[in-house]
Amino acid sequence: MEIKINLNTLVSPAYYPLFRSHDRYLVYKGSRGSGKSYATAVKVIVDILTHDYVNWLVIRQFFGTHKDSTFATIKKVAHDLGVADLFKFTVSPLEITYKETGQKIYFRGMDDPLKITSIQTTQGNLCRLWLEECYELKREEDVDTVEESLRGILPDDGFYQSVFTFNPWSDKHFLKRRFFDDKTRKKKTYATTTTYKDNGHLNEDYIEDLEDMLITNPNRAKVAVLGEWGIAEGLVFDGLFEQRDFSMEEIASLPKAVGLDFGFKHDPTAGEFMAIDQQNRVVYIYDEFYQQGMLTQQIAEAIGQHKGYGMQITADSAEQRLISELSGVYGVPNIIGAGKGKDSVSQGIQYMQSYHFVVHPRVKGLLEEFNTYVYSKDKFDNWTNTPVDANNHGIDALRYALEPFMFRTAGQYMSNQERIQTIKNLGLR
Ligand SMILES: Nc1ncnc2c1ncn2[C@@H]1O[C@H](COP(=O)(O)OP(=O)(O)OP(=O)(O)O)[C@@H](O)[C@H]1O
Ligand SMILES: [Mg+2]
Repeated sequence: MEIKINLNTLVSPAYYPLFRSHDRYLVYKGSRGSGKSYATAVKVIVDILTHDYVNWLVIRQFFGTHKDSTFATIKKVAHDLGVADLFKFTVSPLEITYKETGQKIYFRGMDDPLKITSIQTTQGNLCRLWLEECYELKREEDVDTVEESLRGILPDDGFYQSVFTFNPWSDKHFLKRRFFDDKTRKKKTYATTTTYKDNGHLNEDYIEDLEDMLITNPNRAKVAVLGEWGIAEGLVFDGLFEQRDFSMEEIASLPKAVGLDFGFKHDPTAGEFMAIDQQNRVVYIYDEFYQQGMLTQQIAEAIGQHKGYGMQITADSAEQRLISELSGVYGVPNIIGAGKGKDSVSQGIQYMQSYHFVVHPRVKGLLEEFNTYVYSKDKFDNWTNTPVDANNHGIDALRYALEPFMFRTAGQYMSNQERIQTIKNLGLR
Protein backbone atom coordinates (compact mmCIF):
# COMPACT_ATOMS: atom_id res chain seq x y z
CA MET A 1 0.00 0.00 0.00
CA GLU A 2 1.19 3.51 -0.75
CA ILE A 3 0.53 6.42 1.56
CA LYS A 4 1.23 9.93 0.35
CA ILE A 5 2.00 12.47 3.03
CA ASN A 6 3.00 15.98 2.00
CA LEU A 7 4.94 17.43 4.91
CA ASN A 8 5.08 20.92 3.48
CA THR A 9 1.37 21.36 3.84
CA LEU A 10 1.18 19.52 7.16
CA VAL A 11 3.51 21.46 9.41
CA SER A 12 5.16 24.86 9.27
CA PRO A 13 8.84 25.22 8.25
CA ALA A 14 9.95 25.55 11.87
CA TYR A 15 9.17 21.85 12.20
CA TYR A 16 10.85 20.54 9.05
CA PRO A 17 13.95 19.52 11.02
CA LEU A 18 11.79 16.98 12.85
CA PHE A 19 11.58 15.13 9.55
CA ARG A 20 14.88 15.97 7.92
CA SER A 21 17.47 16.03 10.67
CA HIS A 22 19.31 12.94 11.86
CA ASP A 23 20.61 14.75 14.93
CA ARG A 24 20.52 12.75 18.12
CA TYR A 25 18.49 15.41 19.98
CA LEU A 26 15.77 17.65 18.57
CA VAL A 27 14.77 20.20 21.16
CA TYR A 28 11.75 22.47 20.79
CA LYS A 29 11.17 25.01 23.47
CA GLY A 30 8.29 27.28 22.67
CA SER A 31 5.30 29.41 23.49
CA ARG A 32 1.76 28.34 24.11
CA GLY A 33 0.12 26.89 21.04
CA SER A 34 3.22 26.98 18.87
CA GLY A 35 2.37 23.57 17.42
CA LYS A 36 5.14 21.58 19.12
CA SER A 37 2.96 18.76 20.31
CA TYR A 38 1.03 18.41 17.08
CA ALA A 39 4.14 18.46 14.89
CA THR A 40 5.91 15.90 17.08
CA ALA A 41 2.85 13.66 16.92
CA VAL A 42 3.05 13.87 13.11
CA LYS A 43 6.66 12.75 13.36
CA VAL A 44 5.71 9.85 15.62
CA ILE A 45 3.30 8.51 13.01
CA VAL A 46 5.46 9.27 9.98
CA ASP A 47 8.59 7.67 11.46
CA ILE A 48 6.67 4.48 12.21
CA LEU A 49 5.20 4.31 8.71
CA THR A 50 8.48 5.04 6.94
CA HIS A 51 10.99 3.05 9.05
CA ASP A 52 10.12 -0.50 9.98
CA TYR A 53 12.70 -0.61 12.80
CA VAL A 54 11.17 2.30 14.71
CA ASN A 55 9.29 1.99 18.01
CA TRP A 56 8.54 5.06 20.12
CA LEU A 57 8.70 5.65 23.82
CA VAL A 58 6.67 8.70 24.84
CA ILE A 59 7.48 10.07 28.27
CA ARG A 60 5.82 12.56 30.58
CA GLN A 61 6.50 13.19 34.24
CA PHE A 62 3.04 11.92 35.20
CA PHE A 63 1.74 8.82 33.47
CA GLY A 64 -1.84 9.89 34.16
CA THR A 65 -1.50 12.91 31.87
CA HIS A 66 -0.72 10.92 28.68
CA LYS A 67 -4.23 9.80 27.81
CA ASP A 68 -5.63 13.30 27.26
CA SER A 69 -2.45 14.78 25.81
CA THR A 70 0.15 12.76 23.87
CA PHE A 71 -2.08 9.73 23.24
CA ALA A 72 -5.06 11.88 22.18
CA THR A 73 -2.88 14.08 19.96
CA ILE A 74 -1.24 11.15 18.16
CA LYS A 75 -4.67 9.63 17.64
CA LYS A 76 -6.00 12.91 16.23
CA VAL A 77 -3.00 13.22 13.92
CA ALA A 78 -3.52 9.66 12.65
CA HIS A 79 -7.09 10.65 11.77
CA ASP A 80 -6.02 13.95 10.19
CA LEU A 81 -3.49 12.06 8.04
CA GLY A 82 -6.11 9.51 7.05
CA VAL A 83 -4.11 6.58 8.45
CA ALA A 84 -5.97 5.88 11.70
CA ASP A 85 -7.26 2.54 10.37
CA LEU A 86 -3.72 1.25 10.11
CA PHE A 87 -3.28 1.52 13.86
CA LYS A 88 -4.76 -0.10 16.92
CA PHE A 89 -5.30 2.24 19.86
CA THR A 90 -5.68 0.67 23.29
CA VAL A 91 -6.14 2.37 26.61
CA SER A 92 -5.22 -0.51 28.87
CA PRO A 93 -2.36 -0.85 28.39
CA LEU A 94 -2.05 2.63 26.93
CA GLU A 95 -0.46 1.78 23.60
CA ILE A 96 -0.64 2.31 19.85
CA THR A 97 0.27 -0.52 17.45
CA TYR A 98 0.94 -0.36 13.73
CA LYS A 99 -1.17 -3.35 12.76
CA GLU A 100 0.80 -4.43 9.71
CA THR A 101 4.14 -4.88 11.48
CA GLY A 102 3.51 -4.79 15.22
CA GLN A 103 5.66 -1.68 15.72
CA LYS A 104 4.52 0.16 18.81
CA ILE A 105 4.21 3.50 20.53
CA TYR A 106 4.65 3.08 24.29
CA PHE A 107 3.61 5.62 26.91
CA ARG A 108 5.34 5.87 30.27
CA GLY A 109 5.57 8.25 33.23
CA MET A 110 8.68 9.19 35.19
CA ASP A 111 6.58 8.46 38.25
CA ASP A 112 7.04 4.74 37.51
CA PRO A 113 10.67 4.32 36.37
CA LEU A 114 10.68 0.50 36.49
CA LYS A 115 8.07 0.36 33.76
CA ILE A 116 10.40 2.34 31.53
CA THR A 117 13.36 0.00 31.62
CA SER A 118 11.34 -3.17 31.14
CA ILE A 119 9.98 -2.53 27.62
CA GLN A 120 10.45 -5.36 25.11
CA THR A 121 9.66 -4.64 21.47
CA THR A 122 8.39 -7.37 19.15
CA GLN A 123 9.38 -5.75 15.87
CA GLY A 124 12.37 -3.44 15.49
CA ASN A 125 13.98 -1.39 18.22
CA LEU A 126 13.12 1.15 20.82
CA CYS A 127 15.02 3.99 19.16
CA ARG A 128 12.79 7.06 19.29
CA LEU A 129 11.93 9.03 22.37
CA TRP A 130 9.51 11.93 22.83
CA LEU A 131 9.78 13.75 26.13
CA GLU A 132 6.64 15.88 26.21
CA GLU A 133 6.25 18.86 28.59
CA CYS A 134 9.70 17.95 29.80
CA TYR A 135 9.96 21.13 31.88
CA GLU A 136 8.04 19.01 34.38
CA LEU A 137 11.04 16.69 34.69
CA LYS A 138 13.05 18.00 37.60
CA ARG A 139 15.95 15.51 37.70
CA GLU A 140 18.44 15.36 34.88
CA GLU A 141 19.45 11.81 35.93
CA ASP A 142 15.94 10.68 35.04
CA VAL A 143 16.48 11.82 31.47
CA ASP A 144 19.74 9.89 31.32
CA THR A 145 17.97 6.79 32.60
CA VAL A 146 15.32 7.03 29.92
CA GLU A 147 17.91 7.60 27.22
CA GLU A 148 19.62 4.41 28.34
CA SER A 149 16.45 2.44 27.72
CA LEU A 150 16.88 3.03 23.97
CA ARG A 151 18.87 0.07 22.72
CA GLY A 152 19.58 -2.56 20.07
CA ILE A 153 21.52 -2.69 16.82
CA LEU A 154 19.80 -0.68 14.13
CA PRO A 155 19.84 -1.26 10.38
CA ASP A 156 22.64 0.52 8.48
CA ASP A 157 20.65 3.63 7.76
CA GLY A 158 18.94 3.60 11.17
CA PHE A 159 19.48 6.19 13.89
CA TYR A 160 18.49 6.98 17.45
CA GLN A 161 16.61 10.20 18.11
CA SER A 162 14.98 12.00 21.03
CA VAL A 163 12.54 14.88 20.75
CA PHE A 164 12.10 17.28 23.67
CA THR A 165 9.12 19.66 23.80
CA PHE A 166 8.34 22.18 26.54
CA ASN A 167 7.45 25.71 27.69
CA PRO A 168 10.60 27.22 29.24
CA TRP A 169 9.31 28.60 32.55
CA SER A 170 12.70 29.12 34.17
CA ASP A 171 16.22 29.69 32.90
CA LYS A 172 17.47 27.67 35.89
CA HIS A 173 16.19 24.45 34.38
CA PHE A 174 18.74 21.80 33.38
CA LEU A 175 17.29 21.76 29.86
CA LYS A 176 18.93 25.12 29.22
CA ARG A 177 22.39 23.87 30.18
CA ARG A 178 21.90 20.54 28.47
CA PHE A 179 20.74 21.79 25.09
CA PHE A 180 20.99 25.56 24.71
CA ASP A 181 24.07 27.00 26.43
CA ASP A 182 27.10 27.07 24.11
CA LYS A 183 29.59 25.69 26.61
CA THR A 184 27.55 22.87 28.05
CA ARG A 185 25.18 21.76 25.33
CA LYS A 186 25.20 18.21 24.06
CA LYS A 187 26.68 17.51 20.68
CA LYS A 188 24.45 16.47 17.80
CA THR A 189 21.70 18.69 19.07
CA TYR A 190 19.26 20.77 17.09
CA ALA A 191 17.66 23.17 19.58
CA THR A 192 15.23 25.89 18.62
CA THR A 193 12.38 28.11 19.76
CA THR A 194 8.92 28.28 18.23
CA THR A 195 6.05 30.66 18.90
CA TYR A 196 2.37 30.87 18.12
CA LYS A 197 3.44 32.49 14.83
CA ASP A 198 4.76 29.09 13.73
CA ASN A 199 1.27 27.65 13.95
CA GLY A 200 -1.17 28.58 11.20
CA HIS A 201 -4.02 26.71 12.87
CA LEU A 202 -4.89 28.97 15.80
CA ASN A 203 -8.11 30.93 15.92
CA GLU A 204 -8.20 34.73 16.11
CA ASP A 205 -9.43 34.86 19.70
CA TYR A 206 -6.60 32.70 20.93
CA ILE A 207 -4.03 34.89 19.19
CA GLU A 208 -5.67 38.04 20.51
CA ASP A 209 -5.51 36.69 24.08
CA LEU A 210 -1.83 35.88 23.69
CA GLU A 211 -1.04 39.30 22.27
CA ASP A 212 -3.00 40.96 25.09
CA MET A 213 -0.82 39.11 27.55
CA LEU A 214 2.26 40.89 26.19
CA ILE A 215 0.78 44.08 27.61
CA THR A 216 -1.09 42.87 30.69
CA ASN A 217 1.35 40.18 31.91
CA PRO A 218 4.80 40.75 30.40
CA ASN A 219 6.51 38.39 32.82
CA ARG A 220 4.34 35.45 31.95
CA ALA A 221 4.07 36.46 28.27
CA LYS A 222 7.82 36.16 27.91
CA VAL A 223 7.42 32.40 28.17
CA ALA A 224 3.83 31.80 27.11
CA VAL A 225 3.83 34.13 24.09
CA LEU A 226 7.45 34.53 23.03
CA GLY A 227 8.80 31.13 24.08
CA GLU A 228 11.80 32.74 25.82
CA TRP A 229 13.37 31.47 29.02
CA GLY A 230 11.51 32.76 32.05
CA ILE A 231 13.46 34.47 34.80
CA ALA A 232 12.67 32.66 38.02
CA GLU A 233 14.06 35.37 40.29
CA GLY A 234 12.02 36.93 43.03
CA LEU A 235 9.30 34.29 42.90
CA VAL A 236 6.86 34.88 45.74
CA PHE A 237 6.36 31.15 46.29
CA ASP A 238 9.91 30.11 45.49
CA GLY A 239 10.57 26.59 46.77
CA LEU A 240 7.11 26.35 48.31
CA PHE A 241 5.31 24.41 45.57
CA GLU A 242 5.69 21.14 43.75
CA GLN A 243 3.70 19.27 41.14
CA ARG A 244 2.64 15.77 42.17
CA ASP A 245 0.08 13.23 40.99
CA PHE A 246 -1.71 12.40 44.25
CA SER A 247 -4.96 10.46 44.53
CA MET A 248 -8.22 11.66 46.05
CA GLU A 249 -7.89 8.85 48.63
CA GLU A 250 -4.69 10.45 49.86
CA ILE A 251 -6.58 13.61 50.79
CA ALA A 252 -9.93 11.99 51.64
CA SER A 253 -9.88 12.86 55.32
CA LEU A 254 -8.71 16.46 54.94
CA PRO A 255 -11.00 19.50 55.06
CA LYS A 256 -11.63 20.99 51.63
CA ALA A 257 -12.69 24.37 50.33
CA VAL A 258 -13.09 26.38 47.14
CA GLY A 259 -11.91 29.87 46.18
CA LEU A 260 -13.14 31.97 43.25
CA ASP A 261 -11.56 34.93 41.54
CA PHE A 262 -13.54 36.65 38.82
CA GLY A 263 -12.12 37.87 35.53
CA PHE A 264 -13.65 38.33 32.12
CA LYS A 265 -12.10 39.75 28.98
CA HIS A 266 -8.41 39.90 29.83
CA ASP A 267 -8.24 37.83 32.98
CA PRO A 268 -9.42 34.31 33.62
CA THR A 269 -12.06 33.43 36.12
CA ALA A 270 -10.26 31.03 38.42
CA GLY A 271 -11.79 28.41 40.67
CA GLU A 272 -9.30 26.58 42.89
CA PHE A 273 -10.24 23.44 44.82
CA MET A 274 -8.03 22.56 47.73
CA ALA A 275 -7.58 20.30 50.74
CA ILE A 276 -5.60 21.42 53.76
CA ASP A 277 -3.42 19.42 56.14
CA GLN A 278 -2.97 21.83 59.04
CA GLN A 279 -0.78 19.50 61.05
CA ASN A 280 1.89 19.20 58.37
CA ARG A 281 1.08 22.58 56.84
CA VAL A 282 0.50 21.20 53.38
CA VAL A 283 -2.15 22.44 50.96
CA TYR A 284 -3.21 20.13 48.13
CA ILE A 285 -4.74 21.80 45.09
CA TYR A 286 -6.63 18.96 43.46
CA ASP A 287 -8.81 20.66 40.86
CA GLU A 288 -9.27 23.90 38.99
CA PHE A 289 -11.18 25.78 36.35
CA TYR A 290 -9.37 28.67 34.74
CA GLN A 291 -10.84 30.40 31.74
CA GLN A 292 -11.50 33.80 30.20
CA GLY A 293 -14.92 35.05 29.15
CA MET A 294 -16.97 32.97 31.62
CA LEU A 295 -20.54 34.13 32.16
CA THR A 296 -22.26 33.77 35.54
CA GLN A 297 -24.16 30.69 34.47
CA GLN A 298 -20.99 29.03 33.19
CA ILE A 299 -19.27 29.74 36.50
CA ALA A 300 -22.17 28.12 38.36
CA GLU A 301 -22.00 25.11 36.04
CA ALA A 302 -18.25 24.81 36.45
CA ILE A 303 -18.60 24.81 40.24
CA GLY A 304 -21.09 21.97 39.86
CA GLN A 305 -18.99 19.97 37.40
CA HIS A 306 -16.00 20.21 39.73
CA LYS A 307 -18.13 19.00 42.65
CA GLY A 308 -17.97 22.27 44.54
CA TYR A 309 -21.61 22.30 45.68
CA GLY A 310 -21.86 21.92 49.42
CA MET A 311 -18.29 23.03 50.03
CA GLN A 312 -17.34 26.36 51.58
CA ILE A 313 -16.78 28.77 48.68
CA THR A 314 -15.03 32.08 49.28
CA ALA A 315 -15.10 34.51 46.37
CA ASP A 316 -13.58 37.75 45.20
CA SER A 317 -15.67 40.35 47.06
CA ALA A 318 -15.04 43.13 44.54
CA GLU A 319 -17.81 41.43 42.54
CA GLN A 320 -20.76 41.42 44.93
CA ARG A 321 -23.22 41.24 42.06
CA LEU A 322 -21.69 38.03 40.77
CA ILE A 323 -21.75 36.47 44.22
CA SER A 324 -25.40 37.43 44.64
CA GLU A 325 -26.26 36.03 41.21
CA LEU A 326 -24.42 32.80 41.85
CA SER A 327 -26.23 32.20 45.13
CA GLY A 328 -29.60 33.87 44.41
CA VAL A 329 -30.19 33.05 40.75
CA TYR A 330 -28.19 29.86 40.26
CA GLY A 331 -28.54 28.43 43.76
CA VAL A 332 -24.84 27.93 44.51
CA PRO A 333 -24.78 27.22 48.27
CA ASN A 334 -22.26 28.33 50.89
CA ILE A 335 -20.71 31.16 48.93
CA ILE A 336 -19.38 34.23 50.76
CA GLY A 337 -17.28 37.24 49.82
CA ALA A 338 -13.65 37.30 50.89
CA GLY A 339 -12.68 39.60 53.75
CA LYS A 340 -11.11 42.94 52.92
CA GLY A 341 -9.23 45.56 54.84
CA LYS A 342 -5.86 47.14 55.37
CA ASP A 343 -3.02 44.92 54.14
CA SER A 344 -5.33 41.94 53.69
CA VAL A 345 -3.63 40.89 50.45
CA SER A 346 -0.09 40.99 51.76
CA GLN A 347 -1.15 39.37 55.04
CA GLY A 348 -2.83 36.58 53.11
CA ILE A 349 0.28 36.01 51.03
CA GLN A 350 2.52 35.98 54.09
CA TYR A 351 0.28 33.46 55.72
CA MET A 352 0.26 31.35 52.57
CA GLN A 353 4.04 31.29 52.65
CA SER A 354 3.86 29.22 55.81
CA TYR A 355 2.48 26.30 53.78
CA HIS A 356 3.87 23.90 51.21
CA PHE A 357 1.68 23.57 48.11
CA VAL A 358 1.20 20.31 46.25
CA VAL A 359 -0.32 20.92 42.83
CA HIS A 360 -2.05 18.14 40.92
CA PRO A 361 -0.99 17.82 37.23
CA ARG A 362 -4.52 18.70 36.13
CA VAL A 363 -4.19 22.11 37.82
CA LYS A 364 -2.36 24.07 35.14
CA GLY A 365 -3.29 27.72 35.56
CA LEU A 366 -2.23 27.95 39.19
CA LEU A 367 1.05 26.19 38.48
CA GLU A 368 1.90 28.70 35.77
CA GLU A 369 1.19 31.49 38.20
CA PHE A 370 3.41 29.96 40.88
CA ASN A 371 6.12 29.88 38.21
CA THR A 372 5.70 33.54 37.27
CA TYR A 373 4.32 35.44 40.28
CA VAL A 374 7.15 37.74 41.39
CA TYR A 375 7.91 40.55 43.81
CA SER A 376 8.27 43.98 42.27
CA LYS A 377 11.53 45.94 42.19
CA ASP A 378 12.07 49.53 43.28
CA LYS A 379 13.75 52.17 41.17
CA PHE A 380 17.19 51.02 42.41
CA ASP A 381 16.45 47.54 41.11
CA ASN A 382 16.07 46.08 44.60
CA TRP A 383 13.35 43.61 45.43
CA THR A 384 10.42 44.98 47.42
CA ASN A 385 8.02 43.00 49.62
CA THR A 386 5.13 43.74 47.27
CA PRO A 387 4.25 41.26 44.57
CA VAL A 388 3.60 42.54 41.07
CA ASP A 389 -0.16 42.62 40.71
CA ALA A 390 -0.34 40.24 37.73
CA ASN A 391 -0.42 36.46 37.23
CA ASN A 392 -2.38 36.10 40.41
CA HIS A 393 -5.90 34.97 39.57
CA GLY A 394 -5.46 31.35 40.60
CA ILE A 395 -3.31 32.53 43.51
CA ASP A 396 -6.01 34.97 44.63
CA ALA A 397 -8.62 32.23 44.36
CA LEU A 398 -6.41 29.96 46.45
CA ARG A 399 -5.93 32.73 49.02
CA TYR A 400 -9.71 33.08 49.28
CA ALA A 401 -10.12 29.30 49.60
CA LEU A 402 -7.65 29.37 52.49
CA GLU A 403 -9.23 32.31 54.24
CA PRO A 404 -11.50 30.24 56.54
CA PHE A 405 -8.34 28.46 57.76
CA MET A 406 -6.26 31.60 58.15
CA PHE A 407 -8.21 34.69 59.07
CA ARG A 408 -11.68 33.72 60.27
CA THR A 409 -12.84 33.06 63.79
CA ALA A 410 -16.39 31.84 64.35
CA GLY A 411 -17.08 32.54 60.68
CA GLN A 412 -16.12 36.24 60.95
CA TYR A 413 -13.23 37.80 59.07
CA MET A 414 -10.69 38.95 61.64
CA SER A 415 -9.87 42.57 62.36
CA ASN A 416 -6.56 43.94 61.17
CA GLN A 417 -5.16 43.68 64.74
CA GLU A 418 -6.17 40.03 64.97
CA ARG A 419 -4.66 39.28 61.57
CA ILE A 420 -1.39 40.92 62.57
CA GLN A 421 -1.38 38.85 65.75
CA THR A 422 -2.14 35.64 63.82
CA ILE A 423 0.82 36.20 61.54
CA LYS A 424 3.07 37.00 64.51
CA ASN A 425 1.99 33.76 66.15
CA LEU A 426 3.24 31.87 63.13
CA GLY A 427 6.64 33.41 63.69
CA LEU A 428 6.50 35.05 60.30
CA ARG A 429 7.30 38.54 61.51
N1 LIG B 1 0.14 21.32 11.75
C1 LIG B 1 -1.06 21.44 12.32
N2 LIG B 1 -2.19 21.08 11.68
C2 LIG B 1 -3.40 21.19 12.28
N3 LIG B 1 -3.58 21.67 13.53
C3 LIG B 1 -2.50 22.04 14.21
C4 LIG B 1 -1.19 21.95 13.66
N4 LIG B 1 -0.30 22.38 14.56
C5 LIG B 1 -1.02 22.72 15.64
N5 LIG B 1 -2.34 22.53 15.44
C6 LIG B 1 -3.41 22.83 16.43
O1 LIG B 1 -3.05 24.02 17.12
C7 LIG B 1 -3.25 23.89 18.52
C8 LIG B 1 -1.97 24.13 19.30
O2 LIG B 1 -0.99 23.22 18.88
P1 LIG B 1 -0.13 22.38 19.91
O3 LIG B 1 -0.98 21.84 20.98
O4 LIG B 1 0.67 21.42 19.13
O5 LIG B 1 0.80 23.52 20.51
P2 LIG B 1 1.95 23.40 21.61
O6 LIG B 1 3.13 24.14 21.10
O7 LIG B 1 2.14 21.98 21.98
O8 LIG B 1 1.31 24.23 22.80
P3 LIG B 1 1.60 24.13 24.40
O9 LIG B 1 2.90 24.82 24.64
O10 LIG B 1 0.46 24.90 25.00
O11 LIG B 1 1.63 22.68 24.74
C9 LIG B 1 -3.82 22.49 18.74
O12 LIG B 1 -5.21 22.58 18.84
C10 LIG B 1 -3.43 21.73 17.49
O13 LIG B 1 -4.37 20.72 17.18
MG1 LIG C 1 1.94 20.99 23.78
